[in-house]
Amino acid sequence: MAHITKATSVRDWFDQRIALTKLWNVLAGQYWIPKNINFLWAMGVVLTVLFTLLFISGLLLLMYYKPDANLAFDSVNYTIMKEVEYGWLWRHIHAVAASVIFLIIYIHAFVGIYYGSYKKGREMIWISGMLLFLIFSAEAFSGYMLPWGQMSYWAAQVITQLFGGIPFIGDALVEWIRGDYAVSDPTLTRFFMLHVCLLPIVIIMVIGVHFYTLRVPHVNNLEGEEIDFELEAEKYLKGDTINSKVIPFWPGFLSKDFFYVSLFMIFFFYLVSFHFNFAMDPINFDPANAAKTPTHIYPEWYFLWQYEILRGFFFDIGPIKAADIGALAMAFAGISLFFMPLYDRSDVVAPAHKRKGFFVWFWLLIIDLIILTVYGKLPPTGFNAWIGFFSSVGFLVLLLVVLPIITIKERKANR
Ligand code: HEM
Repeated sequence: MAHITKATSVRDWFDQRIALTKLWNVLAGQYWIPKNINFLWAMGVVLTVLFTLLFISGLLLLMYYKPDANLAFDSVNYTIMKEVEYGWLWRHIHAVAASVIFLIIYIHAFVGIYYGSYKKGREMIWISGMLLFLIFSAEAFSGYMLPWGQMSYWAAQVITQLFGGIPFIGDALVEWIRGDYAVSDPTLTRFFMLHVCLLPIVIIMVIGVHFYTLRVPHVNNLEGEEIDFELEAEKYLKGDTINSKVIPFWPGFLSKDFFYVSLFMIFFFYLVSFHFNFAMDPINFDPANAAKTPTHIYPEWYFLWQYEILRGFFFDIGPIKAADIGALAMAFAGISLFFMPLYDRSDVVAPAHKRKGFFVWFWLLIIDLIILTVYGKLPPTGFNAWIGFFSSVGFLVLLLVVLPIITIKERKANR
């Protein structure tokens, strides 16, 4: 039992019972961040704010949404959009945040790649980040089903069918996931459970893990400099704040981040107020109809690059069907991203513009992803199909072949 004395202040009362000051110092007051970073390092906090907004707006939508194939469409498009006061606003906030969070996730991940923040002790930050990307993808996909419009229905049909390519158990697995032979009411209710319960819980836990993985290796910086955090923290605490290379998470880092978050919020609410349409497909304003397939089925913009890899392999190879090759290539591309730290064979941590070969590789990868995204929305016929094929192969070759080669060269040159 702790030795409790008469408290001298409210803070002292809590300190004696739950070591509040100590906890605060570990989490924020004496958690050290390098000074040499810029606005790109605010993206993690922007993501946290966006997730919070999604959570709150989602709770409000949940009060009126009906997870039933006969009622879902109307509960969203009439009850929430027309009858509930400000229901439209919460729906627009939810839809725009769901789309924009992927933009910020991509920026955040590519900043990590550009500055080499995924290697030399930071591998677990990368892996937990990729896990977040994967779970966010499942969260977005399950949420897209809920309005039960035409695109909700047909996207669910296409994506759940992908599991049919798994040898031996494929067909049984598709039926198990759907809860029926085709996408129908049981599919909607189980995806509803995933979207509002299981996946948000897992996301919150994995965000906690992602933050924890930053503790030991610390956040990287603009030059990839190896900082002695203990020494620099000591300088800071002794009052030499000018020469110390670090600042505390609070107030130093977070107060600056709040400034960037505020700027971002102006942009965000501008989109919510005037350009919310980009986050809602017009085809999804038609109720789900199992008897009428839309002319083109495509996912939201943030999944287009993966969708194009899925469609990129459009011909059978021997007994293996084109659809199975595409599904395999898409799964392989996704899994490969988890192993980025393994394919990069050099231990140089520096911004890409100081690593010649890597710099070219980085921009080729971005260009390839943009081509995949643009062609992912176009019909996969004639010339388009070949562009899709070459850029899909290009993505895999850049990641699995070119990256190891240029980084092995870099490692040898630095010996
Ligand atoms: C909603 C999801 C995510 C949240 C809330 C989040 C949050 C954060 C925060 C607060 C930081 C520290 C400050 C900063 O660099 O921004 C960080 C760092 C980092 N995150 Fe994430 N992150 C998320 C997703 C991802 C994803 C998808 C990846 C990539 C696979 C990723 C990779 C990284 C890396 C490599 C760092 C270290 C940056 C450095 O050391 O300079 N994160 N994240």
